[in-house]
Amino acid sequence: MADRVEIFEVGPRDGLQNEKRQIPTADKVALVDCLSAAGFRRIEVASFVSPKWVPQMADSAEVMAGIARAEAVRYAALTPNMKGLERAIAARADEVAIFGAASEGFSKANINATIAESLARFAPVAQTAREAGLPVRGYISCVTDCPYDGPVAPEKVAEVAARLDAMGCYEISLGDTIGQGTPARIAEMLDAVLDVVPAGRLAGHYHDTAGRALANIEVSLDKGLRVFDAAVGGLGGCPYAPGAAGNVATEAVHDRLAVLGFDTGLDRDVLLRGADMARAMRSP
Ligand code: HMG
Ligand code: MG
Repeated sequence: MADRVEIFEVGPRDGLQNEKRQIPTADKVALVDCLSAAGFRRIEVASFVSPKWVPQMADSAEVMAGIARAEAVRYAALTPNMKGLERAIAARADEVAIFGAASEGFSKANINATIAESLARFAPVAQTAREAGLPVRGYISCVTDCPYDGPVAPEKVAEVAARLDAMGCYEISLGDTIGQGTPARIAEMLDAVLDVVPAGRLAGHYHDTAGRALANIEVSLDKGLRVFDAAVGGLGGCPYAPGAAGNVATEAVHDRLAVLGFDTGLDRDVLLRGADMARAMRSP
């Protein structure tokens, strides 16, 4: 039997959050409902951040309320602080994510906090979430390069990973936020992180800005990672990471994994339908 690799679908959140045109809530709900039939175990649907910072995600509670929940799917949400967590719990998110960075410049630009301040802020969020029975995922942005500070040291990524791990994150997603990582540098970064967190609790989250995301996934597979974040249609990017183009497209990751002999358990026809829907939401 083929080895299993899981794709964590982030299209409804990371894919759409950067769109300039306000996408109707009903369209977001329709996209999630389509994706729910694709075979994903986890879909990131919502982001309970400040609506002033990311207006596109302001209707996250309405999206969560509107979707038809599939039994097998966990619907995930970003929660930068206690207020975000309260909103996620009220919206019945199945799991939440705290999101930090390995570079100070991006941390300040994205969440208005130094790395140390952000970790202090996340600790009670993670603890309260876990007490409420919600699995907590941790993101680290800028694992190789920062749009403000330049190259990022692998040791810094490992240091933040160890802190998120100690907070009880069940998985840590390593973000090449601006898609500048090369396979060699991703491998170097992973070597440092693997000293503190095992491969089975890591995910790769590689943006495809420079067209290297699939190569970076391949080197991560060699290092033992078996979970990768992707967005149908390859939409998205972070509003606080200038020049960051799309997430790696779920359908492209699926196809590459299939060639490499990995099984994702996903229905390709449904993925392609979702990709069409997502691309139709993109601003001209
Ligand atoms: P701040 O301005 O320092 O926060 O922002 P504050 O606590 O001073 O609050 C300011 C205002 O925001 C207040 O409202 C709060 O109530 C409100 P006011 O009194 O002015 O009317 N507020 C909130 N409202 C709703 N929900 C909340 C919330 N928190 C505060 N949770 C904050 C700090 C973290 C809130 C802000 O910086 C923020 O929302 N940042 C999020 C930025 C973001 O979402 N970026 C994209 C996601 S990360 C990403 O894409 C990377 C990733 O994909 C991995 C990768 O690719 O690397 C994950
Ligand atoms: Mg991202």
